[in-house]
Amino acid sequence: MKTAVYPGSFDPITNGHMDILTRSCGLFDKVYILVSDNPDKRCFFSTEERVSLISDAASHLKNAEIAVLKGLLADFVSKANAQAIVRGLRAVSDFEYEFQMALANRELNPKAETVFLSANSSHTFLSSSLVRQIASLGGNIAPFVPDSILSKVMEKFGQSS
Ligand code: COA
Repeated sequence: MKTAVYPGSFDPITNGHMDILTRSCGLFDKVYILVSDNPDKRCFFSTEERVSLISDAASHLKNAEIAVLKGLLADFVSKANAQAIVRGLRAVSDFEYEFQMALANRELNPKAETVFLSANSSHTFLSSSLVRQIASLGGNIAPFVPDSILSKVMEKFGQSS
């Protein structure tokens, strides 16, 4: 069985993440969506909220399973018996950081192969912080997040749908 891990902060999950996740689910038998619970990166949505949003957005992906990452990604990959870490590349600017992480993860776990999927061209500008900024200023985030979580995300910013 080919298993992959798709890690991230998902603060919140966006259509860009969903694109990478959906395509990963087509490539692997099982995909763990791994929600980072990193005290160094303060998230706007709590871990529970981020998990709940992903669970709503990805409920149709039957081979996807949500998990929370508390330690090292390389260790989770070992414990999950996964063969691959999936990361999305939006632009060349993502490359240096992603390449460094891929090399570090392979050093920590030689079996952890990082697979890069190129983002859909319509999502190359998209990030969670962009969504948060637009929402906090009262803008329309409907084009950027899955329909199934739109009202929950807007609610967090005090907007009604
Ligand atoms: N579509 C939309 N946005 C995307 C995207 C895509 N396809 N791919 C990345 N992004 C955005 C995210 O929205 C996020 O935006 P933001 O900074 O505006 O919130 C940004 O790119 C980076 O996001 P993310 O993918 O969540 O990465 P991260 O750097 O926050 O977290 C981990 C990366 C969780 C994989 C990493 O921190 C990790 O492995 N942590 C565990 C500890 C560990 O093992 N450390 C050693 C690693 S070598």
